[in-house]
Amino acid sequence: MLIAPSIFASIDLRRLGDEIARAADGGADWIHLDIMDGHFVPNLSFGPVLVEAVRESTALPLDVHLMITAPERYIADYVKAGADRVTVHVEATPHVYRALDLVHDLGKPAGVALNPGTPAEAVSAVLANVELVLAMTVSPGYSGQRFIHAVLPKITRLREMIAATGRAIHLQVDGGVDAITAPLCRAAGADVLVAASAVYKAGKPVAEAIAELRGARREGRGANAAAR
Ligand code: DX5
Ligand code: ZN
Repeated sequence: MLIAPSIFASIDLRRLGDEIARAADGGADWIHLDIMDGHFVPNLSFGPVLVEAVRESTALPLDVHLMITAPERYIADYVKAGADRVTVHVEATPHVYRALDLVHDLGKPAGVALNPGTPAEAVSAVLANVELVLAMTVSPGYSGQRFIHAVLPKITRLREMIAATGRAIHLQVDGGVDAITAPLCRAAGADVLVAASAVYKAGKPVAEAIAELRGARREGRGANAAAR
């Protein structure tokens, strides 16, 4: 299970480098960057300049989640800023193939994201063109929202669809992921979890929060239970 802390709205931007280091030292696998345009989602976040600053702060892979309308307009800017992979929403463009092709033309793995209300079948035609599928478990736009449990069967369905391709495609879950919901995502077939609040605002050391999401704690308890 890979853990990708999201830094949007969760860190002290005055101490960007230290906050990224906290995630890296705590065992983060990727850094997840939430890009919002005030159009596809109601909120605004940040652009390529901040991605570039993050790039200079860490060697961890930068996982860029574009919650922007017509993402094909900006993909090159984010790759130039240091994105290692780019995910676009299937709902955000009538030209999703063009967007995914552009990411590949720039030499990076591409991802396709689905809002909670979008059926799994919306991405069936593009599975051959992606290295990652992102199932949103909140309506995108804000951190700290409640996990939508009704998305879980769709995650299972997406895992089946991915298995049928015979290709190694990551299945990422984003939104309301915490120590309680992470095991549900894992059971449904997710292999990458994004979390902001549960990493930075859980009132515990980042390393502990990340280990919990990864399932280390849970497996530990399971082992003890089995021993009893
Ligand atoms: C939601 C973003 C998420 C969000 C996660 O619009 O895509 O990455 O920041 O925040 P939490 O983990 O607090 O739900
Ligand atoms: Zn995200």
